[in-house]
Amino acid sequence: MKRISLLVAMMFVVVATASAKDYLLSTPNTSLVLTAEEGKPLYFRYYGTKATLEDVFSSHRAMKYPAFRAFGTHCSQPHACLIKHADGDNATNLLIEKVKLQKSGSMQRLTVSLRDTAHPFVLHLHYDAYTDCDVMKMWAEYENEGRKPISLQKYMSAALPVCSQDCVLLHLDGDHGNENNENFEPLGEGIKIISTQDGGRPSVHNNASFMLGTDGKVSETEGNVIAGTLAWTGNHHIEFINNRISGRPVLIMAGINPVGSDYTLGGKKTLTTPELILTYSTKGKGQATRNIHTWARKHHILHGEKEREILLNSWEGVRQDITQDGMNDMMTDFARLGGEMFVMDDGWFGNKYVRDNTDKGGLGDWQVCRQKLPLGIGNLVSFANSKGLKFGIWIEPEMVNTHSELYEKHPDWVLRHESFEPTYGRGKTQLLLDMTNPQVQDFVFGVVDNLMKENPGIEYIKWDHNMCMFNASSLYLNKSHQSNLYVDHQLALQDVLKRIRRAYPNLVIQLCASGGYRMNYGYLPYFQELWTSDQTDALHRIYIQWGALNFFPANVLAAHVCSTQNKYTQRRVPVKFRFDVASMCRLGMEMVPSQLTAAEQAYAQRAIAAYKSLRPVIQQGDLYKLISPYEGNRDFCSLMYVNEKQTRAVVFVYRMLYTRHMPNKIIKFQGLDPQRKYLIKEAAPEVEGKPCSLDGKIVSGRYLMEEGVVIPELTKGSSRRTPYNDVRDMNDYRSHIFELIAQ
Ligand code: GLA
Repeated sequence: MKRISLLVAMMFVVVATASAKDYLLSTPNTSLVLTAEEGKPLYFRYYGTKATLEDVFSSHRAMKYPAFRAFGTHCSQPHACLIKHADGDNATNLLIEKVKLQKSGSMQRLTVSLRDTAHPFVLHLHYDAYTDCDVMKMWAEYENEGRKPISLQKYMSAALPVCSQDCVLLHLDGDHGNENNENFEPLGEGIKIISTQDGGRPSVHNNASFMLGTDGKVSETEGNVIAGTLAWTGNHHIEFINNRISGRPVLIMAGINPVGSDYTLGGKKTLTTPELILTYSTKGKGQATRNIHTWARKHHILHGEKEREILLNSWEGVRQDITQDGMNDMMTDFARLGGEMFVMDDGWFGNKYVRDNTDKGGLGDWQVCRQKLPLGIGNLVSFANSKGLKFGIWIEPEMVNTHSELYEKHPDWVLRHESFEPTYGRGKTQLLLDMTNPQVQDFVFGVVDNLMKENPGIEYIKWDHNMCMFNASSLYLNKSHQSNLYVDHQLALQDVLKRIRRAYPNLVIQLCASGGYRMNYGYLPYFQELWTSDQTDALHRIYIQWGALNFFPANVLAAHVCSTQNKYTQRRVPVKFRFDVASMCRLGMEMVPSQLTAAEQAYAQRAIAAYKSLRPVIQQGDLYKLISPYEGNRDFCSLMYVNEKQTRAVVFVYRMLYTRHMPNKIIKFQGLDPQRKYLIKEAAPEVEGKPCSLDGKIVSGRYLMEEGVVIPELTKGSSRRTPYNDVRDMNDYRSHIFELIAQ
């Protein structure tokens, strides 16, 4: 705690005074100030660039705004919590009882406990600040000290007032195969809400992340930006309340979506809410992105600083037509290309109800299909290993088909209402298991545990989730607790994931949900990576990855090269462009490799070798976005990664659309050391031994950033035949990857 004396008010600016109870939390470049005095409400004073209390209280940025309003005292104002107490009251009056400042490793935590003056209820508000990266976290604990249950009707994690009258919001929306679209919108008067109600896939339609430009814009490199993301595996709710005309700050509140979720909190029980992860940048959204990536790799994502392997997944290649020979052939071919891991997707399980392309049966029966794989999984693992590959497998453990032995045995394990027909998911036979039921929890743990015990050598799991919670009713929970389901289902899932992690700490597990429907930090302490989208069309993927990269680092975003003609869009894209787009994140393949021509296979080999050498920079470097694919005619996109020491960088340049007589495109690099010179090398050029004209140049970092480069080949059309001349729209898809090496 820091104490400072009262400051004298200055002219022309709204000045608040600091008191002995002002608490300053700081990261290397950001600060947060609260005023907390026993017996008084908690006040929010400041969140912004690094500051002293003197800086804050002598500036226009200091405010005095209730830090977390409970419904009960200023009922006309927006509130962050509404509690129905045991006596029927829904009014709460929170005053500070205790303030605690703790330090643990690189984190400082301020906890303010506020007691209700009328009921046995305490709210603990936590504010965490890292000293080694520019991230803070806010979250809350709701403690029922009474013996009788209370009902939490709104129970946000955090409230953040923002001192700006001119905000622009960036958030991501989308749908299946079209995730993470960037949406920029000025924050108008009123309330803007980002939320989901899917039940178990928090990024369906709206990702729980945002950037708020507070200078009337959200630019990549300029202006002040607050970025936030709510780490919650279930339904989220983020609201932005703008009462600009009244001159009040913009209020951001984030937490669990209260819709259908009145939470019955038993006597002597506490509910811990999810963390709102926050950062602040004075250099545009690019810096906000880098702050989140650095924090996430260092402190949050499981094995966030470990390299991810290049894999081939069987899904788009063969879908559910799994055979022993088919798998072996794919492995043999992938090993020849330099791959590292093979993953057998959906279709390998079920005997009484064989899993086939109708999607109607098998989920729940996680035993190898003897008809399809008579030699079993063990044989596939050994085969993979004999080719120098690791082996992974797909599961969807939270699901069941009504056509399954599991459902025949346990029809009461599913989520549904007891008295009416449930709504079914995929194949019109899929239902979600009820994670609140302890028997289901054991079963889901057992899916992983049995697979691992019965098939030693599995090193990767793709954990899928292809249905939303259509039927939000539990046959296990009491009637009085039905509205706890959305939350308790998630808490139970997290317990199971913790149990799996205790048993299998090193197993790599990818999280997938109909593509990218589970992109949320709430999962990332348990999963090493996310399947970004079922959309593997390279053109489409540029946008999907570009959006995701705002909040998630490259090493968690799985990006796979599809076959020449994409299965979803039917678009034909040259092999180089497909590899160059997938190489922007965690590279993989999604096809039958033998369907590539000999020339394409030779290219794939070179692209994979190049990725291996560039991987440390791509997966761990700082991201700089250079040209947005949304810009202009949507014809170019460029981004780069720079290692921490600024000695190596990798630049990706894409031309998505060709028009005759395209003017030169100047690309200005970022993040380099201005004092150093860099050798530019083209990685995996389209024609072996024929890099583009930029290759071999040595240019200073300062020049590359201030004047940039032009790649003459990038804007040229060509009737030249390439080894990949089966692709018709070749001119539209031109790309280059450059490695920059400090001299
Ligand atoms: C989902 C996933 C795909 C694939 C299929 C299998 O759609 O997103 O990658 O695993 O399920 O059924």
